[in-house]
Amino acid sequence: MTIRFDGRVAIVTGAGSGLGRSHALAFAERGAKVVVNDLGGSLNGQGQSSSAADTVVAEIKAMGGEAVANYDSVADAAGAERMVATAVDAFGRLDILVNNAGILRDKSLAKMDPADFEAVTKVHLYGSAFCTRAALPAMQKNNYGRIVLTTSNSGLFGNFGQANYGAAKAAMVGLMNVVRIESAKYGIKINTIAPMAATRMTENVMPADMLPLFKPEYVSAAVAYLCSEACEESGQIISASAGYVARVQVMSSAGVFLDTSKPINADTIAANWASITDMSGCQGFDSAGAEMEYIVQQTMARLKKSA
Ligand code: NAI
Repeated sequence: MTIRFDGRVAIVTGAGSGLGRSHALAFAERGAKVVVNDLGGSLNGQGQSSSAADTVVAEIKAMGGEAVANYDSVADAAGAERMVATAVDAFGRLDILVNNAGILRDKSLAKMDPADFEAVTKVHLYGSAFCTRAALPAMQKNNYGRIVLTTSNSGLFGNFGQANYGAAKAAMVGLMNVVRIESAKYGIKINTIAPMAATRMTENVMPADMLPLFKPEYVSAAVAYLCSEACEESGQIISASAGYVARVQVMSSAGVFLDTSKPINADTIAANWASITDMSGCQGFDSAGAEMEYIVQQTMARLKKSA
């Protein structure tokens, strides 16, 4: 199978450097027209410049592709609308949105300035929500769309000094779970990438000899697949780095159904803790409703048995 994006229009946010640039080039190489969004600020989200986005647009044009720049901040709801308008005005439609733009302001939570919590949340969480919100009507119109959110192992698994970033990144999973359900009837698939790659964000934290192993292109391969017609999946979290590609899922243990004819208190929980947390029969749920259904079914079955 050769995945192509001919006739497709993609927006990649934060595409002026690192992973976003690599995603934009991957789409363009395979025929997509690309809106290269980038505010052009520093790693901690200060300043702005058009040169980052312009450079990537020039790279795409030099390889015979089509691209336009957009310099809006993803954290600005009106800017997100302009970004989508840029795609529709320049190329007539919108098929793909990769929410990739991001900043860092690391510090342990006890020492973190609230402004740093807010700035990071605004770019990652509000930014992804605003851009996705702005993109949905254009995708709904064509009954087709592919959206990728960018999470981080920092949020999925935890990392010292990144409470703002980890919380905002874990929120991508919540955003995805809801948009997946709301968008299913429009043929819109939304998935989440958990990348690791050598970029300006990681060049000072990854050991120098590791950097060449973590090529952004490896992550872009997974992003391109998730944004293709070939991908029928929606609601998946895919971890991709250094050639490693894996699915990450939120799982629930089979759980314990406590005897509700007796008092349930903290001591009951303590007595059952090992079974409550035993993941041997774990399962994932497709929606909040599916979890509810499981609980109600099991509870009703128990009540019937004890009647
Ligand atoms: P990067 O710093 O090279 O690229 C981020 C880009 O986003 C920059 O070009 C920046 O100008 C742009 N940007 C920042 N704020 C913006 C805003 N408000 N509006 C528009 N553009 C904005 O970093 P990298 O590594 O390429 O990160 C890409 C994404 O991947 C981020 O969301 C990051 O959190 C995530 N990530 C990266 C990992 C890695 O190993 N590099 C690990 C886990 C997640």
